[in-house]
Amino acid sequence: MGFCSVGVYPQRKTVAHKGQRYGNVNMKHFQVKDIIYYIAVILLFAGCSFSSNGERIFFTATSKNGSITIKEGPPMFKSAVKGCAHCHGRDGKGGRSLDATGIKGPDIRYKTLALKYNGYLGFLEGKGEKILGGVDILIKRAILNGNGPGYKLNAAMPRWSMTDDDLNDVINYLKGLP
Ligand code: HEC
Repeated sequence: MGFCSVGVYPQRKTVAHKGQRYGNVNMKHFQVKDIIYYIAVILLFAGCSFSSNGERIFFTATSKNGSITIKEGPPMFKSAVKGCAHCHGRDGKGGRSLDATGIKGPDIRYKTLALKYNGYLGFLEGKGEKILGGVDILIKRAILNGNGPGYKLNAAMPRWSMTDDDLNDVINYLKGLP
């Protein structure tokens, strides 16, 4: 883990702000301290280097290759700093609930995802669907389109616009997580 990833995501307790629900977002409740926190994170990252592009994406949702954007996602996070770590935890083992829905970012270490998505892959292949690219392709679909292992992921998980190179980089980073 690079220098910059340490200490940037303290296990900060997020309170569910009143009135903040999908479809009924009241930005008045977006607290000033959140904004200060995001600015602090941006400043911290400004002079940062990560040991890989995948690590950088994981912590900042920015890539050395250009922009990464959110096609669809929780409204209050659309314009904020939102690396994967923000919801899935610094170690990828799962995060905390970010709003009133109480839905947590799950464990996305590759070894955990591989178990889940391998099962689904077997199920699809049992039905005669051949998936070229195996588990990694299924994980990419989850990141890009919110297609989970057999169900649509909750809207709390953003749908990302990311190049295939960036997807491979972030997946490689997840592969390295213990
Ligand atoms: C705003 C919070 C948030 C951010 C930021 C976020 N995720 Fe998620 N993610 C979630 C939630 C919540 C779920 C669970 C959705 C569900 O189970 O229906 C999820 C699910 C996933 C899954 C599917 C896991 C499974 O068990 O099937 C993958 C893969 C994933 N996220 C990868 C990423 C990656 C890679 C990034 C960064 C590019 C990222 N997420 C950023 C909230 C987030």
